[in-house]
Amino acid sequence: MYTNILTAQNNGITRITINRPSKLNALNKETIQELHAAFRVADLDAETKVIIVTGSGEKAFVAGADISEFADFSVAEGGNLAQKGQELLFDFVANLSTPVIAAVNGFALGGGLELAMAAHFRVASDNAKMGLPEVSLGVIPGYGGTQRLPQLVGKGRAMEMIMTAGMIDANQAQQYGLVNHVTTQEELLPLAEKLAGKIMRNSSVAIAAAIKSVNSAYEDGINGFKVEIEQFGNCFGTEDFKEGTTAFLEKRKAEFPGK
Ligand code: COA
Repeated sequence: MYTNILTAQNNGITRITINRPSKLNALNKETIQELHAAFRVADLDAETKVIIVTGSGEKAFVAGADISEFADFSVAEGGNLAQKGQELLFDFVANLSTPVIAAVNGFALGGGLELAMAAHFRVASDNAKMGLPEVSLGVIPGYGGTQRLPQLVGKGRAMEMIMTAGMIDANQAQQYGLVNHVTTQEELLPLAEKLAGKIMRNSSVAIAAAIKSVNSAYEDGINGFKVEIEQFGNCFGTEDFKEGTTAFLEKRKAEFPGK
């Protein structure tokens, strides 16, 4: 069905794997389109409670946008590349209702780190290396990197990473708060699945409302506190809320219908 990615659905988790290992999973146009389609399908799938995105092979999560595709672009084409990419993939992933965990299994550079940062949170294997090397190519991060990196690690650290075009290792990324957990390569997907399992016990409707509320803090012209109030109120009209509160009062485990 797809040329550059693999998808698998199991036990409430859809795993999306970027699968161009010979190019270190670099994001070409086709891969971005396929990722858009796969994330969309997973988000609409009632059986999918959590999405895990990772890279195939032992070396790379994603080594960036495919440089060979844009090397001869004009100003207009460059702007369009960033806009289309943000719409189709990076903003799209950040705003999904289904939680997305990035399992960073190696190099996450440029568009690769930007994809990991668009996910709702990140875990990494101890061989992972992260950076935004765009200025070494004469461009800047164009898939949300100049916005999301400062949000995650603070302005000064982001400025240093972007200006030096350097890479940080998994432990430093954890110290920076860029990834939440670091583990071995073998344990990376099991760890992501364990976290997914914890998420899945909770109300998917409430989680979607939480994602919307948290994201609204970073949207221009939107008052996040107001969004939170509205989303909080909406929860009271859901079957999940009735089940969650009833189960608590009856001292039993909630079985959320996800509605
Ligand atoms: N775009 C296109 N192709 C890429 C790529 C990218 N972002 N990153 C890696 N590749 C390709 C290489 O061209 C090479 O292809 P080839 O075998 O056909 O020549 C293949 O992937 C393997 O990469 P290679 O550079 O040989 O691996 P390495 O272990 O020596 O180096 C990196 C690994 C990640 C340090 C190096 O590939 C790199 O710097 N990549 C570009 C990172 C970047 O600047 N990303 C931001 C883009 S905006």
